This record gives sequence, structure tokens and C-alpha cells, in this order.
Amino acid sequence: MATINWDEIYETALDWTKEAREYILVKMKESFQISTKADQDDLVTDVDKGVENFFQEKLAAAFPDHRLMGEEGSAQAVKDLTGVVWILDPIDGTMNFVHQERFFAISLGIFQEGEGMIGIVYDVMGDELFTSRKGRGAFLNGAPLPRLIESPLNEAILSINAGWIINDRRLEELVRKARGIRTYGSAALEIAYVAAGRLDAYISHNLAPWDIAGGSVILKEVGGIMTNDKGSELTFLEKDTFLAAKPSIYQDVLSIINK
Ligand code: IPD
Ligand code: CA
Ligand code: CA
Ligand code: CA
Repeated sequence: MATINWDEIYETALDWTKEAREYILVKMKESFQISTKADQDDLVTDVDKGVENFFQEKLAAAFPDHRLMGEEGSAQAVKDLTGVVWILDPIDGTMNFVHQERFFAISLGIFQEGEGMIGIVYDVMGDELFTSRKGRGAFLNGAPLPRLIESPLNEAILSINAGWIINDRRLEELVRKARGIRTYGSAALEIAYVAAGRLDAYISHNLAPWDIAGGSVILKEVGGIMTNDKGSELTFLEKDTFLAAKPSIYQDVLSIINK
């Protein structure tokens, strides 16, 4: 296999992500179509699709042997993670995009033979760009993110969707033991926030590879732990449960939700 120029891939991915953000900002000032997918709360817009098409076209021209696994269609053709795969959520937090016009992100993880090499999560309205490369640390707007510091569960801020708490008694104990609960509505941002120390853990019952790929590379670089809710390794190929936490509370959270 020819040597892979990761500097070039990283710089290119950053440029495209910034361009995609500009495209989203322009579309927000104009108008866009909203439609639904699996149910009436599962929203998608032509902006989500536009961002994915943009990456698809750029990738085919610049790196024709790389594959795109994007939420809005391109993932269907990707059944394994051999070679280089760009795992893209064109807009993570579409409901926020439509209803709140904030707290949504472009999320991109670039994987080689199943291993995360590059992670980019860009908060479009907050203009916060989280970046990372395997073994080179994680950054927020170019400033290095420090490794996660230790703190106990009773001082932790956890992110858990309210819907999950209603349906899952296991989460009640966690809610009681933690200092506070927040929900932002963008998995990619919530993982990035764990990396930035703003949250101490994030738990979800159902995430797809594109929700977590970008954030996972970022969080790993500062020492965060990510598994499914049983403690098993993530595959980045199937939907799964998800637990991301700082090391000092990971075991406590895992034990409580597996009681
Ligand atoms: C969703 C968001 C949300 C999470 C959902 C995801 P989307 O992604 O990350 O926070 O709770 O499970 O599907 O559909 O807006 O890209
Ligand atoms: Ca979606
Ligand atoms: Ca998503
Ligand atoms: Ca999405």
C-alpha cells in the first residue's frame, strides 16, 4: 500500500469542514427543506444532505480510494472498516439545528483499518473547533486540551437524555449520585465536552458510528474511556449503546448501570 500522507489528509479534512460550516451558515440565512425519516421526530434537512454530498464529491476527487460512511446515505455501502474510511455526521443535532439554531456540529472521524486517526467536531454556531490526531493530543480552537483530571461521581456533571432516564430505572441511581445532569442534543458535542472537562460522562442508549467517530478520537487523546453500556469495545460499524467517561468515574458509572 502507498504511504498515507496524514498531514495532507488532516489539513484537507479541516479545510472541508470549515467550508461545510460556511455552507451551513449561508443556508440558514436562506431557506431549507425539512423532512422526516423513521418517525415524525427524526428530522433531516437538505442542508444535512448538502454537507454529505459536498464531502462525497470532494473525497472522490481528492482521495478516490478512501470511502465515506455518512449518515445521510453514503453509509449504506460501507460494511467494513478496511482501508481509510471517513465517518461523517454532516449535522449532528439536526433537531437543534431546526428548532434552536444552535448546539449542532459537523462530526468527522477518519479511520484506518478500524482505528481512529483524525477526529474533528465543529460546533457551527459556537465556532468551537475540536480537533485531534492519534497520538498528538486534542485541541480546542488550536489550544491543547489537558488530560482529564480525577474527580468523584458526587462532583460529576453527567449528560443523559431525559427520555432514557424515564425508561431506564438503572439511570435513576446515577442521577441521584451525580452533582448535576445536562442534555445538549448533539452526541458529538457531548463527547467533545467530556474531552474538554465540561462534562464528566455521557451516556446514550442508541448511537450510530457517525455520532461518535469524531468525538472518540478527540476524547481518547485526553485519556477518556469509551465503551458500550456493558463495557464492551465499540465497533464503529453498528448502532450501539454508548458510555464515555473520565477514568476516575468510568467504573462507578458502569457498575451502577449494570446492577
Ligand atoms: C442525534 C443526536 C442526539 C442523539 C441521537 C442522535 P442526529 O444525531 O446526536 O443527541 O441523542 O441519538 O441520532 O440525528 O441529529 O445526527
Ligand atoms: Ca439523524
Ligand atoms: Ca448524529
Ligand atoms: Ca446527523
